Amino acid sequence: MRDFNEFTATRAVIERMANCRDERLRQIMTSVVTHLHAIVREVEPTFEEWAFAIDFLTRTGQICDDKRQEFILLSDTLGVSMLVDAINHRRSSSATESTVLGPFHVSGAPHLRMGDSISRDNQGEPLYMSGKVADESGAPVGGALLDVWQTSHDGFYDVQDSRQPAMNLRGQFTTGADGRYWFRSVKPSSYPIPSDGTVGSMLSALGRHPMRPAHVHFIVTAPGYQAVTTHVFVEGDPYLDSDAVFGVKESLIVPFVLRDDPAWAERLGVGNPFYTAEYDFVLAKTAGAQPAGTDRPLSVTSGKAAR
Ligand code: BEZ
Ligand code: FE
Repeated sequence: MRDFNEFTATRAVIERMANCRDERLRQIMTSVVTHLHAIVREVEPTFEEWAFAIDFLTRTGQICDDKRQEFILLSDTLGVSMLVDAINHRRSSSATESTVLGPFHVSGAPHLRMGDSISRDNQGEPLYMSGKVADESGAPVGGALLDVWQTSHDGFYDVQDSRQPAMNLRGQFTTGADGRYWFRSVKPSSYPIPSDGTVGSMLSALGRHPMRPAHVHFIVTAPGYQAVTTHVFVEGDPYLDSDAVFGVKESLIVPFVLRDDPAWAERLGVGNPFYTAEYDFVLAKTAGAQPAGTDRPLSVTSGKAAR
């Protein structure tokens, strides 16, 4: 084809991929070209607008390093990460729902004993969190590993905040035969995703805020079960309906109940008053090979967001 014009453009580019031996790649790129051309036809960008788009993506890439992944943030804030997650967890089961991993997971958090505190600086309102890990029939899952991380009381992960000790508010716990878990912490708060880069500029240009509702992150894994990457959200948080990354699911919201009971606080080893939160995880069994997306995810450590 020689006459590459408004009407023949899409077919011309797709035909040029006819020799691609990787069928999946050809399928994906055919779709990318079709949708990209459709956007251009619909929007009819000026040269200035197109140059801005190229510059935006260039700057997004330039911000990325081994600690900061602006493209994941872009995917998160455009709802793409949660859409990919939803498509890869289309099982109709009673298993705990998944949500976005986020950029603040750090591999190798300390292995702690049940009841230990994940707070290394004791800053914030005490929290006692507990529950169990069970299978879909309700039977306890022993040997389940819970990898937990959360923000400080004022909304920063340790990797973003030089005031916090390393590995603050991170820990791993292994359930015993009864599937139960319990640990001490501090109540997390809502916080802004890193907004000093291109994603932050995009959000403010779109009239969107960068806030996430308060939550505790979990990755729960156990041999023979599908891993789940999820959060437990604080009921009543003002950002539950407008999470910047669209990660909230009703089933993941629980009450964090304020208690004023010095004797109970002493038994639990927390200060008084304190919060309690309970969440029971349900894991689906692996059916033969793990379906795509259910493996323990690769993690991207991040941080150093502008304070
Ligand atoms: C988080 O929950 O840590 C997070 C998720 C997506 C983007 C930024 C932060
Ligand atoms: Fe988070």
